[in-house]
Amino acid sequence: MTERPGCPIVGFDHNAPEHSADPVASFRRVREQAPVAWTEAQGGFWVLSDYASVFEAARNHEVFSSARSSHGGEGLNNVIPKAPSRLHIPVELDPPEHRSYRKLINTLTAPAAVAELQPMIDRWTTWFIDEVIEAGACDLASVIGVPAVVTLDWLGMDVSEWRRFTSALHAPLAEMRGSEAYRRAVEEDVPWMQERINETIRERRAAPGDDVVSYFLAQSVDGRPITDEEVYSIVELLISGGVGTTASLVSQTLVHLSQHPEQRQRLLDQPELMERAVEEFLRAFAPTQAMARTALDDVELRGCPIREGDRVLLAWASANRDPAQFDRPDEVVLDRWPNRHTAFGMGVHRCAGAHLARAMARTMIGQVVERMPDYVVDLANARTYPHQGVNAGYVSIPATFTPGRRRGPAAGTGSRP
Ligand code: HEM
Repeated sequence: MTERPGCPIVGFDHNAPEHSADPVASFRRVREQAPVAWTEAQGGFWVLSDYASVFEAARNHEVFSSARSSHGGEGLNNVIPKAPSRLHIPVELDPPEHRSYRKLINTLTAPAAVAELQPMIDRWTTWFIDEVIEAGACDLASVIGVPAVVTLDWLGMDVSEWRRFTSALHAPLAEMRGSEAYRRAVEEDVPWMQERINETIRERRAAPGDDVVSYFLAQSVDGRPITDEEVYSIVELLISGGVGTTASLVSQTLVHLSQHPEQRQRLLDQPELMERAVEEFLRAFAPTQAMARTALDDVELRGCPIREGDRVLLAWASANRDPAQFDRPDEVVLDRWPNRHTAFGMGVHRCAGAHLARAMARTMIGQVVERMPDYVVDLANARTYPHQGVNAGYVSIPATFTPGRRRGPAAGTGSRP
């Protein structure tokens, strides 16, 4: 066992089935034991679980690095254990390199740019709900395909392939390693998705359009033209950032609102509450549960000796339920304010798609509550992701409701927005 003098050692592993069975309880346990602790799981790493430590580490990118290195194996640096993946830009770069790419994304995801996407988000949400509204029963997990389609549409990619993109991005994080679903995703769906992104890049190089991929291809980085490989790395990150996380937020929220019909009614009666409510859903459900860093230097945190090369897990979900930061942390308080949650991360890597995520979540939750005001989720048959150590959420949410009317083109025409 690695020597960690004077520091608590906990038996924590966010990859273990026991953690996925109840992540809130698992994080509470480790936070109450020690807010900064060492675990021997996955080759050993530090787990930071209170708000103050997560905040401090996330904002100290000079020590807590997001860049790839050989510490803890090869692959995606943001997760423990590292996962096979091509480089994600800019989330796997440290400043100053990070800044050169991040500013290209900021232009596209600033509030004014997102406001222009609102009609497209409305149309796709209407389309998805139209597909099920007359039936009076559906799997709400299909309705939350909206983020995948909106993201592909925004990028200028083929929206009809959204299901396979979802699986390629999502399964490697949500399925248990070693399962058939995990193998299929990694060996079949991920290479398929990579080729689809590459094809789109080749097509837009030859014939630029009015879309996000064409926008990136026209940019310069530090005075030289951006490469196709760099555009690939950004686009893959935008898809993975946009698809799984927002779906996770909405899925958990819809299950919660079925269990708390009085809150659903409040949102219906006071739609102006939606803005604060979405922040509260982000805090309570933290779609991205935890992300990793690598220590570049020896540093002491809460008396614990973190050493150069150590892997460190920043548990956003746990920080969000730290009673030292939030009153009644385990309650969903729709109008909680202020609400400085960590669901979008903190520091230089704070989510670049936060405004887009909020717009999609507000629209989807708003339309479901308005058009299916009495929906009831069959909780006994709702299924969470098998692996909730990185992203939390639902694979399936069977629900019934009073049938309603379509708002878009007639059923069966197959027409899309
Ligand atoms: C509810 C939905 C979302 C959640 C909870 C979420 C969460 C996060 C978190 C926690 C980080 C920080 C990663 C780190 O510190 O290592 C992050 C970064 C990022 N997210 Fe999101 N995200 C969401 C939606 C989106 C969307 C819709 C997009 C894009 C369309 C997006 C694009 C990004 C990008 C590009 C980064 C990297 C930023 C950087 O490194 O500077 N995210 N996100």
